[in-house]
Amino acid sequence: MITRQTVDKIMEAIDIVEVIGEFVQLKKRGANYVGLSPFANEKTPSFTVSPAKGIFKDFSTGKGGSAVTFLMELEKFTYPEALKWLAKKYGIEVDETQDRPQDTAADNHRENLMVVTSYASKFFQDAMWETADGKTIGLSYFKERGFTPDTIKKFELGYSPDAWEAFTSSALNAGYQQQFLEETGLSVKRDNGSLYDRYRGRVMFPIHGFTGRVIAFGGRTLKTDKNVPKYVNSPESEIYHKSNVLYGLYFAKKSIRDQDNCYLVEGYADVISVHQAGIENVVASSGTSLTVEQIRLIGRLTKNITILYDGDAAGIKASLRGLDLILEEGLNVKVVLFPDGDDPDSYVRKVGSTAFKNHIEQHKQDFILYKTNMLLKEAGNDPIQRANVIRDIVESIAKIPDSIKASVFVRECSHQLQIDERVLLTELNKMKLAKAKKDGQQQQRQQYPRPDEMPDEPHFFDEDVYAAETAKPIETSITQEREIIRLLLVYGNQIINWDNIANTYIGPFIIAELSDVEFEQSDCKKFTEIYKQQLENGVLPDEQFFIHHPDKPIVDLTIDLLATKYTLSENWYNMHKIFVHEEQMNMKATILGAIFHLKKQKVGKILDQLRTDLQNATDPIDQDAIMGQYMQMKKIEKHIVDYLGSVIIK
Ligand code: CTP
Ligand code: MN
Repeated sequence: MITRQTVDKIMEAIDIVEVIGEFVQLKKRGANYVGLSPFANEKTPSFTVSPAKGIFKDFSTGKGGSAVTFLMELEKFTYPEALKWLAKKYGIEVDETQDRPQDTAADNHRENLMVVTSYASKFFQDAMWETADGKTIGLSYFKERGFTPDTIKKFELGYSPDAWEAFTSSALNAGYQQQFLEETGLSVKRDNGSLYDRYRGRVMFPIHGFTGRVIAFGGRTLKTDKNVPKYVNSPESEIYHKSNVLYGLYFAKKSIRDQDNCYLVEGYADVISVHQAGIENVVASSGTSLTVEQIRLIGRLTKNITILYDGDAAGIKASLRGLDLILEEGLNVKVVLFPDGDDPDSYVRKVGSTAFKNHIEQHKQDFILYKTNMLLKEAGNDPIQRANVIRDIVESIAKIPDSIKASVFVRECSHQLQIDERVLLTELNKMKLAKAKKDGQQQQRQQYPRPDEMPDEPHFFDEDVYAAETAKPIETSITQEREIIRLLLVYGNQIINWDNIANTYIGPFIIAELSDVEFEQSDCKKFTEIYKQQLENGVLPDEQFFIHHPDKPIVDLTIDLLATKYTLSENWYNMHKIFVHEEQMNMKATILGAIFHLKKQKVGKILDQLRTDLQNATDPIDQDAIMGQYMQMKKIEKHIVDYLGSVIIK
């Protein structure tokens, strides 16, 4: 357990813009910051961070919360993991009540897998730097490959001894459970149940998650035997989902953001060599074709990807489709080829870092133009092949979401293809139309129902109104309840200074006024109960109290209300043409209006119920009684409506 004092220190240190800024490009807009949602694929920023409140809100997915919640959502951290990450960032020492590794196991599975991989990473490094074999075999291999000691240390490279149980027995002795050694793939189970090392005699490349913790390994053999797999990689586990990870991203992310470009290579060695040559914005997909998740990881940091290919034509052709995926995500793609037989790693070692950088600058070309060229060369003069090329290229261009950009490509490709621009455009529009149709259908499914409008005229017992009322969606009263919660959050600890009421806080005032009202929406109800409870304990809870409340639905509600840019348009007083800034100017109208609108809502509900009862009642005596109650309620409703009129029209 992390101690209370440590948690407090961390909370004080957090600058939410700084924390989220590590993952999302944020731009200042007024008092807030905005950026593209890291949780969704969007083209217009709907992700908002409020430094003043210490919260974020993602309008496209509805997620929101504090910096801690953000890390938990994005990195799938547990609460203690998120705190530790923040502590590391702000150089805060973490005081923990000490548990043995086994004890935390029960608490947290993922954390345990991480603890094991981090232990293993340390073990492999020690085995390389501090044992005779490690130095002569592992370390000298890396040095021969041209990696400097600093680079080797930075990437935490290591060596797994050439023995059956070197790692496994060390880990078991240190108290790590067999289960986690197996799940991380570091050890393999024999038929008799005992474990042996997976990576015997291999040099080790730890794979870091976005936040720098080791989550997996790639182990390279030192043998030249073709029957031995060159690399053995960690299996998928709860902490390692291959399709969501880019090798080197942790070391590259700052530079990717600074340079506004990301170099993409194929292998571990490429990343390390290119990084060492001073190009730090480089990541690898590690031998597999790029996934959408990986592209989005990059897309959070930059919209520009430059692919560094080895000159092997077959490999390039195979990856062309994958590159369309990048276009589709709205990123710009450039490619750089290296002479046949060289990959970025071997090339940079051959020519040195200056010549390497020059090569990149001189040979980078736009992906679509490159693709056009390459396919055209292949097609030669065959008209059918050429027609296929045209279709293929237009298909790529159609993937580009930005239509201005797309039209530039149409022009350039029409030159290359020696075909009228209009022909390409017609083809392009056809494809775009088909795509828009598909997207449109999807979007419609995502739309939320709009809360209905408030009836603001008093109504009478009349069949039409009755029918209209029963058809009315329940959102209306939820909106009213949420409005009350919002006022509690935003103005709860301001002091009332109206002519007839003074020196009362708004929060307790609202709670007292609504003591006879039962909230229907469960989160709102819970919220008011917590609020009441706090008041009874002599505390006036503020927004920070609710932002950091342990109950997730409460936090969600809080963030929603604090951040919803649409809240106001859904409010009754907007319909009464009271504008945002007037909310504060005319606090009395705002508060009393909300209270009495909610009351009116509730009275309306009771009236509905009485009408139903009246229809169902057969006994004339019952009918009379219900009618009496009905008239009574009607009077109350009239009072409320009159009162509302007097407060608002002012
Ligand atoms: N790879 C893998 N398993 C293999 C071969 C390759 O996982 N059996 C992945 C590794 O991530 C590797 C990348 O694919 O880094 C590229 O493979 P390759 O070009 O064969 O390896 P290099 O990185 O060039 O390795 P080296 O330079 O050490 O030979
Ligand atoms: Mn290589």
